Amino acid sequence: MKQLTNMNVQIVSDKQAGGKAGFQVFENALQNGAKVLGLATGSTPVTIYEQLVASDLDFSQLTSVNLDEYVGLSADHPQSYHYFMQQHLFNAKPFAHSYVPDGANLDAAAATSEYDQIIADNPIDLQLLGLGKNGHIGFNEPGTDPESTTHKVTLTASTIDANARFFDNADEVPRYAYSMGIGSILKAKQILIVAYGEAKAAAVAAMIQGPVTPDVPASYLQTHPNVTVILDEAAASQLD
Ligand code: GLP
Repeated sequence: MKQLTNMNVQIVSDKQAGGKAGFQVFENALQNGAKVLGLATGSTPVTIYEQLVASDLDFSQLTSVNLDEYVGLSADHPQSYHYFMQQHLFNAKPFAHSYVPDGANLDAAAATSEYDQIIADNPIDLQLLGLGKNGHIGFNEPGTDPESTTHKVTLTASTIDANARFFDNADEVPRYAYSMGIGSILKAKQILIVAYGEAKAAAVAAMIQGPVTPDVPASYLQTHPNVTVILDEAAASQLD
């Protein structure tokens, strides 16, 4: 069996169990003094947020920094990632400060450098990640520079397609996003990446056991010293 690099891989029965396992990682981080939480959107983190909301953890002295946002959607747009975070976590568990890239700012140079400054001022203790079917993390599509900081991304057809389920149709999915870079993500002290389902199995195997390559942005997590991976059996099914 091939060595699973440095990653701590946990296999759970389903999303509910994954929510509990993910919650445990958050609780431990907070007990160890984490002050800045890097958060993610998508369907994968939802059960973790449910556990956080149901818990007695208090975020009112903490800061959150989100990975990404669609360009052109303001914070109150129902499909914006800002809105998603309010619905799934912030309304129930407010943080002292919550940052999400400003999708309403169409000046990409200003929006991205402002966000890099926020990350520099608030170094991330624990970064939560989902995984794209093509191996993307945040909105860092295949080919992204591993040292990238926050940048404007042109979404791939596969990502637009995957995210169309949240919109009335694929034409309404924004074509651009602001995303923390791979370099920004790798600066987090600890990383938790979660994936469920057969559709993620190839990306999971490439992330953990494949070469470290720009073709699979998540493969750069092999170079980070403190990564926990939570998978269900379907997502783990292509691992050796
Ligand atoms: C989007 C997000 C990612 C997320 C991915 C997977 O592209 N930008 O942060 O990880 O989708 O989403 P899901 O968890 O719904 O499968």
